[in-house]
Amino acid sequence: METNYIIDTHCHIDMIEEFSVEEILKNAEENLVKKIVIPSADRSSFEKILELTNKYENIYCMLGVFPEEAKTWNDDIIDEIKKLVSENKKIVGIGEIGLDYYWDKTFIDLQKDIFIKQIKLANELNLPINVHDREAHKDTFDIIKEYNKTSKVVLHCFSGSLEFANECIKEGWYISLGGVVTFKNAKKMKEVAENIDENYLLLETDSPYLTPIPYRGKTNQPAYTKFTAQEIANLRETTLEHIMEITTQNAYKVFGFEERTA
Ligand code: NI
Repeated sequence: METNYIIDTHCHIDMIEEFSVEEILKNAEENLVKKIVIPSADRSSFEKILELTNKYENIYCMLGVFPEEAKTWNDDIIDEIKKLVSENKKIVGIGEIGLDYYWDKTFIDLQKDIFIKQIKLANELNLPINVHDREAHKDTFDIIKEYNKTSKVVLHCFSGSLEFANECIKEGWYISLGGVVTFKNAKKMKEVAENIDENYLLLETDSPYLTPIPYRGKTNQPAYTKFTAQEIANLRETTLEHIMEITTQNAYKVFGFEERTA
């Protein structure tokens, strides 16, 4: 298998307004990013994401309801996702799902409830979960540990300490790093990037957010995954090629991509 390229495992292409999808994909190719996974935020985004996934070979997607959209949840979404997954092999995960205690703590119980339901759904569908955890490390850990039986786990835009990263890796969960790693004051993230077991490392942008240096403050796009990969390579005193190879292999272990259809 060819692995000398980058996979952006979490990119909201549907939310990038500044560039066309064609431009985004062209820039991505030119910067060695050859696969992109789009997570959904809520049910209203499924259609657009699936349209992009069906139209472009290098785009894959995940379906799920984001914690901040918990109030839009309705149990019918479970059957809808099951049906869509049965029809489309390019749906490679359930995400993004999880807990967010940063923006709004008034409906934590609802967030937990739909997180658990979607973990169970992922287990049933044999798909990985792509987890958003913002200022909710302990509850996120405890819920996955208790309810997840069989799905691979990706902690997207990981924001915990090295100690927490290692606890998660001990469970076999993957740590996905984005542009924050390049920020000069991101000591904790650099420590994680430098020291975790490379077999659990993934790359992402979370575009259009969290743009790495040197474009910090501008709109993010998959092409910029290369800056994050290069920073991780520098921190680990290895080559960009090695980081591309190992993270692409890891991404295949989690998402399968075209292997799912084989
Ligand atoms: Ni996201």
